[in-house]
Amino acid sequence: MTLTFLGIESSCDDTAAAVVREDGTILSSVVAGQTALHAEFGGVVPEIAARAHAEKLDICVEQALAEAGMGLSDLDGVAVTAGPGLIGGVMAGVMLAKGLVAGAGLPLVGVNHLAGHALTPRLTDAIGYPYLMLLVSGGHCQLLQVDGPDAFRRLGGTIDDAPGEAFDKVAKLLGLAQPGGPSVEAEARRGDPARIALPRPLLDRPGCDMSFSGLKTAVLRARDQLVDAQGGLTVQDRADLCAGFQAAVADVLAEQTRRALAQHPAPVLAVAGGVAANATIRAALENVASDAGAQFVAPPLRLCTDNAAMIAWAGMEAFRLGRRDGMGLAGRPRWPL
Ligand code: KG4
Ligand code: ZN
Repeated sequence: MTLTFLGIESSCDDTAAAVVREDGTILSSVVAGQTALHAEFGGVVPEIAARAHAEKLDICVEQALAEAGMGLSDLDGVAVTAGPGLIGGVMAGVMLAKGLVAGAGLPLVGVNHLAGHALTPRLTDAIGYPYLMLLVSGGHCQLLQVDGPDAFRRLGGTIDDAPGEAFDKVAKLLGLAQPGGPSVEAEARRGDPARIALPRPLLDRPGCDMSFSGLKTAVLRARDQLVDAQGGLTVQDRADLCAGFQAAVADVLAEQTRRALAQHPAPVLAVAGGVAANATIRAALENVASDAGAQFVAPPLRLCTDNAAMIAWAGMEAFRLGRRDGMGLAGRPRWPL
């Protein structure tokens, strides 16, 4: 029998539901974002997020089932993000999932959001274990060795900001639009990455950890020096700052991934997260993979950013190992892999 699961995700600022089959077919994947709701506050506001999730979750689930042409009775289980994340949103998802499984007599599986991201390359590219996973988004930055659905080994990660967060902050201090990743990348295309020297934090030390907050501060300092010397930033200055910053992030991510692959050889390097959309960063990581003789896998962006198909998939992987959660399933704001 081929399993079919409903997945539910509400741990940050996207409300999502999806129906996925065990053979990797995504029958539906609905994502309702909240960017507009949080825009005026310059970041995700937990109270607003929780309320929006509570309002939209059942609509997303209904839509996901309708698009898949299914009712609850056609499912083999429900998987829901049980953390880590903003607890109000997580609770809203977990409560809805409990209601659904209680009514329909279905199994329930609570999923770690990070495991959802980390297992996505198996959904999209049917790769086997083990593989090395680089998760780079606005909230995450981890190098994980993935040995099984619940066997993750953290080889390194950021000790401060996530790289997407750094892109967003750099965009803010250069007066560019949010989210910062795409706008910094667009500016960087016209810039010279070598003109303004920026640091490559932590590369002078052993290990695979990363740091991005000092890099952001270095951009701020370089900006202020240019402003003081010239009385303002030129269009070219801004492009050069973006290009220099982007090159530094790419170097740090590539070098630490290279080290992780050297210390823990794996047949596949997979990347996920919004930052993996960056062409310069992606090219640097592809080089690292090819130098190490590893296959490079980057799931399509809509499955790299927050979605519920990855939760349904991770839930099925755990279910096959015998994992079941009861009505006691609790949401967890913190839940390391
Ligand atoms: O995975 P994601 O959609 O959300 C989570 O953080 O979970 O990632 C969003 C982050 C934002 O910080 C955004 O600025 C960054 O990914 N991002 C990029 C690019 N597109 C999105 N960063 C660099 N280059 C891009 N092209
Ligand atoms: Zn995420």
